[in-house]
Amino acid sequence: MRPLIVIGNWKMNGSLASNADWVKTVCRGMEQGMPSGRQYAFCAPFPYLSQCGQLIRDCSLAFLTLGAQDVSAHTTGAYTGEVAASMLKEMACKFVIVGHSERRQLHQETDELVAEKALQALDCGMTPVICVGESADERNSGREVEVVRGQIAKQVAVLQDRLADCLIAYEPIWAIGTGLSATPEQAQSMHEFIRGRIAGYDEKAANTLRILYGGSVNPINASQLLVMQDIDGGLIGRCSLDANDFEKICLAAASVFTTSTH
Ligand code: 13P
Repeated sequence: MRPLIVIGNWKMNGSLASNADWVKTVCRGMEQGMPSGRQYAFCAPFPYLSQCGQLIRDCSLAFLTLGAQDVSAHTTGAYTGEVAASMLKEMACKFVIVGHSERRQLHQETDELVAEKALQALDCGMTPVICVGESADERNSGREVEVVRGQIAKQVAVLQDRLADCLIAYEPIWAIGTGLSATPEQAQSMHEFIRGRIAGYDEKAANTLRILYGGSVNPINASQLLVMQDIDGGLIGRCSLDANDFEKICLAAASVFTTSTH
């Protein structure tokens, strides 16, 4: 059984006023009937985690939780500008995105660093959301499977059996922020491949590990993606910024037929 999960990634967006409106709108919508057995979360920028944690507590919805968009690979000490996993835990974060393609590209994050960050999150009792995915060039030259295989192999090498406690997000870079989502079949095919690779190391973990799809998910395409056998949720960028769109995607997840795996 892999409960569907929808996670918003606000990226570098938000303000004290708009965050309050967003949480209130989403909570109001969810109070009107989100079924249990699904999970919903959003990852706010660091400075807003305290505020957003309080806003969630105020609306007391157990299935809407908070996450962060990155974490330091170090525990504590002289790392100016970095934020430790223990600090995120104190802010009530349940999830931490690691290895987002924007961080890999803009901050030269390597697979090894991403795995170290995931370990930090796990050690503090949070769930890392490990992002993988190929670029347009890599897909156009038929190397998408090879690229993702390499990314997964590096995570397995460091995390080993702890990978079972992570989420994986397949986010093809060409689909992020472009309005051009992977088709449900393209996404399913890669998710199946990822699950198969993990099964090669740990069959039990592969069956329970949730693999999210991210890249131009919107209220219209969400249910077609989420219904696929190996797609266990969505990581939503742009459409998580609008509370109504995010709520519609959550509703799509809520209404996906419950199969033996979802
Ligand atoms: P978009 O939904 O804006 O394509 O972003 C996806 C993403 O990067 C989520 O982490």
